[in-house]
Amino acid sequence: MHSDSRFVPLDFKTDTKPVMIKNRTASVSLYTSVVFIFLFSCLTSLAQTISDDPAAIAAGSSLFNANCKTCHAVHKKVVGPPLAAVYDRTPSIDWIVKFVQNSSAVIASGEPYAVKVYEDNGKTQMTAFTSLKEADVMNILAYVKAETVKGPEVAVVPPTGGGQPAEGGAPSEYLNIILIGMVLILVLLLIILGFLVSALKRFLDQKELSEEDKEVVNSPISLSTITRSSGFIFIVLFLVGALGFKAVINGLYSIGIQQGYAPKQPIAFSHKIHAGQYEIDCKYCHVGVMKSKSATIPSVNICMNCHNQIKSGTVTGEVEIAKITAAWQNNKPIEWVRIHNLPDLAYFNHSQHVNVAGVECQTCHGPIQEMDVVRQHSLLTMGWCIDCHRKTDINTKGNAYYDKLMELHKTTNGNKPYKVEDNGGLECAKCHY
Ligand code: HEC
Ligand code: HEC
Ligand code: HEC
Ligand code: HEC
Ligand code: HEC
Ligand code: HEC
Repeated sequence: MHSDSRFVPLDFKTDTKPVMIKNRTASVSLYTSVVFIFLFSCLTSLAQTISDDPAAIAAGSSLFNANCKTCHAVHKKVVGPPLAAVYDRTPSIDWIVKFVQNSSAVIASGEPYAVKVYEDNGKTQMTAFTSLKEADVMNILAYVKAETVKGPEVAVVPPTGGGQPAEGGAPSEYLNIILIGMVLILVLLLIILGFLVSALKRFLDQKELSEEDKEVVNSPISLSTITRSSGFIFIVLFLVGALGFKAVINGLYSIGIQQGYAPKQPIAFSHKIHAGQYEIDCKYCHVGVMKSKSATIPSVNICMNCHNQIKSGTVTGEVEIAKITAAWQNNKPIEWVRIHNLPDLAYFNHSQHVNVAGVECQTCHGPIQEMDVVRQHSLLTMGWCIDCHRKTDINTKGNAYYDKLMELHKTTNGNKPYKVEDNGGLECAKCHY
């Protein structure tokens, strides 16, 4: 596939032409060809063309998703303006390259178009992308152009994430069909059995039978005869007893366990939209996670960084976003309902796990980026902590703190991996105050 291609033509098709021409006109004097190349390269730098090479478009697409998607869409205003046909309205392609690399410098220079877009967009600063080369920006433009040509109808389709629930729904539909089929077969079997019983009865009636056998054959099989039989009473008592016992044990084990807890929040904030679709980094909002015990829930100010611009969303958008603005204007914090909560007797530190140990958020919190409503993924019991500390190797590489400890460990344990357990990860006082 194109998107896998590592070889992205960083220069443009026109750039190769002078070389070809030079080869063909080798017999012509060197002087004219040099002049020709010079003129040609002047032309290309004056009027750069946006490539329609699939490899450039693919490279542009991934650059766009990684750098621009949080603020731009091609056919829709997000934080910044829609980028469709941006190359037609801006002063030049060169301007776009400069603007992307450092927009505030272009605005500060007083260039009228730059000042105008800046003011039209509520004076929001666009991030400077000094690391993006001219060729990178050209690839992004190739992608933007391809999307512009496709038009908004097609461009709305790509969030294929929306298509997944339908695919995911298919198996459960099959399951329903299978279940209904099985019930139908069972009912059919019952009817057939009923016919068999009555046929057998009629057959036996015609035979000569002893009194005892006759009684058995004619004894009415009613609900009361079944329920009074000792076998039935035993089975029922056993089932009730077993289920009751299991419920009590489960109840005892689940005291204080809130796995799956997913309360309704005051604002219908969706991680699926923010962390999933728009790929906003967890740390952008949960700022404490690298340096402190607590990951922290973002303040209204962080939401307003974007939502002073983005006022409409998909389904619940406008109503829910209005609540953010209201909280911000009234200077009132949003009262989020806490989901993960260890009892006070336990000590857990995020920076130790995320920063030092490099454990992914998802290992403990599950696929948050797919959740519309956050739910507690893990048990959060002592057994859960201990289990991981027994299994997980400590990442000791490049951490001078561990150098001496590792030497010591090697002399006593040979080449056995250094687990959290070996570092005192099972000591009561490490986790309990
Ligand atoms: C933090 C949000 C943000 C990010 C990220 C961002 N932009 Fe922008 N962009 C803006 C805003 C806001 C404007 C409007 C101009 C202004 O206020 O400075 C803008 C304007 C532009 C314009 C001019 C649009 C016009 O209508 O003339 C271009 C081109 C552009 N951005 C390209 C990009 C590209 C390419 C990327 C990714 C490499 C990118 N932007 C990433 C916010 C952003
Ligand atoms: C745009 C800001 C934002 C981003 C990005 C974000 N979150 Fe959140 N997160 C929130 C807000 C607001 C809440 C509280 C409301 C809720 O529970 O939905 C929250 C709640 C949570 C909670 C539950 C907290 C509790 O009460 O126990 C977890 C866990 C979490 N986020 C993990 C993540 C992870 C992992 C990522 C990255 C994949 C992430 N978040 C990205 C804003 C964000
Ligand atoms: C980095 C930018 C950014 C930040 C920070 C941010 N959002 Fe958003 N938010 C978005 C984007 C982009 C959308 C999608 C808009 C769309 O679909 O048109 C969105 C949509 C929403 C929606 C509408 C969802 C829907 O149903 O369409 C709500 C509600 C929301 N955000 C709440 C919040 C809250 C609360 C915070 C702060 C904890 C926050 N956002 C922080 C970028 C951001
Ligand atoms: C080793 C497991 C683990 C990892 C990795 C982890 N968390 Fe947590 N997280 C927890 C536990 C346990 C709690 C409950 C802490 C408490 O109640 O004191 C929690 C609570 C939270 C909370 C709500 C309470 C708070 O601390 O503010 C948020 C938000 C959160 N985590 C986000 C994240 C994000 C974002 C990441 C990744 C950058 C992450 N977590 C990585 C285990 C983990
Ligand atoms: C996904 C695996 C994982 C889970 C789950 C986990 N931890 Fe850890 N924990 C680690 C790793 C890895 C380290 C080693 C960090 C380092 O390099 O120092 C660690 C270290 C620690 C330390 C420091 C131990 C020391 O030797 O100094 C404490 C305290 C701790 N964890 C508490 C907890 C608590 C409390 C929980 C449960 C709420 C928990 N951890 C759940 C992986 C985990
Ligand atoms: C890796 C971290 C960790 C270590 C090591 C650890 N604990 Fe715990 N312990 C916890 C957590 C987390 C909880 C809270 C679990 C919950 O809420 O279900 C807990 C809960 C408890 C409780 C209370 C149970 C309850 O139902 O309230 C006791 C008692 C306890 N631990 C004793 C110990 C003893 C004794 C040791 C040493 C042998 C120890 N713990 C070592 C993490 C740890």
